[in-house]
Amino acid sequence: MCGIVGYIGSKQVLPILITGLKRLEYRGYDSAGVALHDEGQLWVRKRKGKIKDLEIELNGETPQATAGIGHTRWATHGAPNYENAHPHMDMHGKIALVHNGIIENYNDLRSELIEKGFKFKSETDSEVLVNLISMLYEGDMVQAIREGLQLVQGTFGIAVLSQDDPEKIFVARRGSPLVIGLGEGETLIGSDGAALIEYTRKVIYLEDDEMAVIDSQGARVRTLQDKKVNPIIDKIEYDLSRIQKSGYPHFMLKEIFEQPQTIIDSMRGRLLIEDGNAKLGGLESCLDRIHNTMRFIITACGTSWHAGLIGEYLIERLAGIPVEVEYASEFRYRDPILSRADSVLAITQSGETADTLAALREAKQKGALALGMCNVVGSTIARESAAGVYLHAGPEIGVASTKAFTSQVITLVLIALAMGRKGNLSSEDGQALAQSMHELPEKMKEIFDQKDQIHRIAERMVEHHNALYLGRGFNYPVALEGALKMKEISYIHAEGYPSAEMKHGPIALIDEKMPVIFIAIKDPVYEKVISNIEEVKARGGWVIAVANPGDKTIKRLCDEVIEVPETSQCLTPVLTVVPLQLLAYYTAVLKGCDVDQPRNLAKSVTVE
Ligand code: G6P
Repeated sequence: MCGIVGYIGSKQVLPILITGLKRLEYRGYDSAGVALHDEGQLWVRKRKGKIKDLEIELNGETPQATAGIGHTRWATHGAPNYENAHPHMDMHGKIALVHNGIIENYNDLRSELIEKGFKFKSETDSEVLVNLISMLYEGDMVQAIREGLQLVQGTFGIAVLSQDDPEKIFVARRGSPLVIGLGEGETLIGSDGAALIEYTRKVIYLEDDEMAVIDSQGARVRTLQDKKVNPIIDKIEYDLSRIQKSGYPHFMLKEIFEQPQTIIDSMRGRLLIEDGNAKLGGLESCLDRIHNTMRFIITACGTSWHAGLIGEYLIERLAGIPVEVEYASEFRYRDPILSRADSVLAITQSGETADTLAALREAKQKGALALGMCNVVGSTIARESAAGVYLHAGPEIGVASTKAFTSQVITLVLIALAMGRKGNLSSEDGQALAQSMHELPEKMKEIFDQKDQIHRIAERMVEHHNALYLGRGFNYPVALEGALKMKEISYIHAEGYPSAEMKHGPIALIDEKMPVIFIAIKDPVYEKVISNIEEVKARGGWVIAVANPGDKTIKRLCDEVIEVPETSQCLTPVLTVVPLQLLAYYTAVLKGCDVDQPRNLAKSVTVE
């Protein structure tokens, strides 16, 4: 979603802002712009489209300015066009503002401002905010911002330039993340660390209802109620190579191929093979409470929700605790019945998804144990959870989640293993599972050897408009995830179903134009899945199977077979999802789609 960058120091600011905006492209956006302090004036350029379009607009202009802010906008209020793009100026052209989030009462505020003579060029809530600040400004910008933000309802991460304060950038947040980077004689801002790690790793994550005045020497942080704050200075651990393509044509492909390593990173120091157990530092203090929990509720959105569904099978199987999985957007609004006896785990790659955050807060408010599983260190959900666990998968840039998913599943196995060992799971069973987990990365690499074959299947897939993904048990959520990957990036309509549900509806769709992707590994429901494959073949469907090596029945029945090595049943999703990720990727590339930034999608969905 929208991205914010900012810099104040001694270097020429424009190239720094453009690079920062490029680092945030992955969040998804449809227009971009910058505002600089330039020789006593505010210099603003913006453009509908991508950063490269903004660069065309800039046409080689090189202002010497050393302070400025930039923004990528993902349209919410008003179409993606020049007027609605950020930065927005106040009516007098003296204040420039970039804004992430949504001002919910913007209509009322807009009417009040119009009555007072303010005029608007855009349809955005953000232009209302900059004019509100302008109306309240009487020579003290901090005061005006503070007063203005008291009047707004909704969420914001803002950065403001004032013509009267050329040595400063003003920032504030409620609900939309903002990171301040502390360099040597230069200070940066970003909506996430990717925008600033080229310059510094020392960061302050601004908390909700805090604002800061930034200059080249650092940041003075206070609350919006003007209370003193002693900000914690954190360190960003990853390096630049983690957010570069490193020779791969797309981030998504790089992240798919990184998975043997990222699942190791998720297990490192946590998997105790000899003990057949797992140790998760962040959950240690509340493992007893989790184990005695009445209900374990997992809440999430998108791909993270699919990981949650696998978590349900895992925790029920290994720990014997009843689990429910809820879409965060539904959970938060249906006044869920929760008590202190329940645990709620929010799973989220970004740690910023608005619905997941609201669900976590709802759980907290009702006294449940609110747990978080995040990838982005320092993210809002990571900080608001009572306890939690990081994925350690490194930055995920491709909008379509891949490596975060496999790390989520691995981390859920670790949680289920630790919970199981507190209960009835024997050390022998724990050891066998831990050993299988240890062997997973090498097994995953074997799947990559079939990439040419998967590419060939994709060459045929591009001719189709629909696809059906079927799986059972642990691999039913994988069918959902495979279908989601295909529709997200290739725009082919794809649906996932539990295989046995096929005869209750989807079978009506099957003819020779329907590709059906079966996950048909040797597990207790294998024979049933074989019957489903027969049913599809009998109706002329094109069958692609993800199966175990040497399965002659599958070879005979199916048109295409992609092999995944055998592993413990509850670990199979970590392997079976990989060919489905690659199939979606190659199909999208062959169709000429923008794989890393699919149309209309955003990486971090910070609006409801
Ligand atoms: C967006 C992304 C998906 C992601 C979902 C949940 O829709 O495009 O890839 O799965 O948000 O994101 P989260 O960061 O909470 O895992």
